[in-house]
Amino acid sequence: MRKSIIQSTARYLPPRRVPNAELEKYMDTSDEWIYKRSGIRERRWIDEGSELRTSDLAFMASNISLIKAGWKAEDLDLIIMATQTPDLYIPGAGPILQNKLGLETTPCLDIRQQCTGFLYGLQVADAYIKSGMYDKILLSCAEVQSIGINLTTRGRDMSILFADGAGSICIEAVDTHKDVGVLSTVLHTQGEYHKNIYLDLSVGYKEEWIKEGLHWPQMKGRDVFIHAVKRLPEVVNEILNQTNMKIDDIDMFIPHQANVRINDHVCKKLNIPPEKMFNNIDRYGNTTAATIPIALDEVLEQHPDVKTIMFLGYGAGENWGAIIYRRMI
Ligand code: ACO
Repeated sequence: MRKSIIQSTARYLPPRRVPNAELEKYMDTSDEWIYKRSGIRERRWIDEGSELRTSDLAFMASNISLIKAGWKAEDLDLIIMATQTPDLYIPGAGPILQNKLGLETTPCLDIRQQCTGFLYGLQVADAYIKSGMYDKILLSCAEVQSIGINLTTRGRDMSILFADGAGSICIEAVDTHKDVGVLSTVLHTQGEYHKNIYLDLSVGYKEEWIKEGLHWPQMKGRDVFIHAVKRLPEVVNEILNQTNMKIDDIDMFIPHQANVRINDHVCKKLNIPPEKMFNNIDRYGNTTAATIPIALDEVLEQHPDVKTIMFLGYGAGENWGAIIYRRMI
């Protein structure tokens, strides 16, 4: 049977560290408030004035991932690119990444899905692999958000969270009867709440929007928080029921990194031992689509024996979901 196996993982974080104290220069906030309310101590942003864009960060992570898998870019059957901050509004960042990888006609699929971009991307990759259509897929998730956030006090609820970074994985079809690879996926969307996190670029900027600050991303943080702490435990139970598994069967939970308090809530509600819930938001902030693959790369370095993993996330859309993945080790 064809199984989707993650052959390699990689991350790229820009070297510039932006501690909370630096944000105090731009807006009315404090290191104490940010750490207490979100768990973030610092984040990575591209250098001021840098021309690096999302496809550049995606390229760096993808290159490392390809090398680790022992693949050449030409081996890829498909590239899936997930971001909410493409280099251009049209086209997506996928074709730009493909061009940077030196490829000529390899198909690219751009997906949005924001914080759940990795989950949706992995489900699509798994479906392609199980259908027999493709054997080798690159899933790249990247964001350059620092150039598009409101650094005044008005935008502080979002700008303290958002960060730059990239995570890429190489996924391959492997024929095996073992119970490995992507075991189960559960995804949900509730469009009713699409305005809880949004940015309207549909007809360019209108002058009155600029006056009202609507040309920046908008978020009702408290509402998103309340939905996330309800939906994430629900979806964990849903996927465990679907697979006939228990919390104890999962070696590591790798959640989206929006706010450490959300992940702490999930632990408490489901009695998950905190050491099984991986967090790195303190160092990287919220890199939206990239948080889960960046975290996966770190988990595999720090915990090489981890076998069964649950990915989970909640974000703009509003979209949420969970995936159970078992390594071949
Ligand atoms: N510094 C200081 N004070 C602040 C800041 C800040 N950066 N931001 C907000 N405040 C103030 C508010 O103005 C408010 O003041 P008031 O009580 O006088 O009105 C007070 O702090 C509390 O504000 P809340 O919004 O209730 O603060 P909360 O504890 O909810 O934290 C946060 C805000 C961090 C945004 C939180 O709500 C959150 O993490 N929400 C979820 C975000 C999320 O998951 N987004 C989805 C992923 S992103 C994506 O999909 C693209």
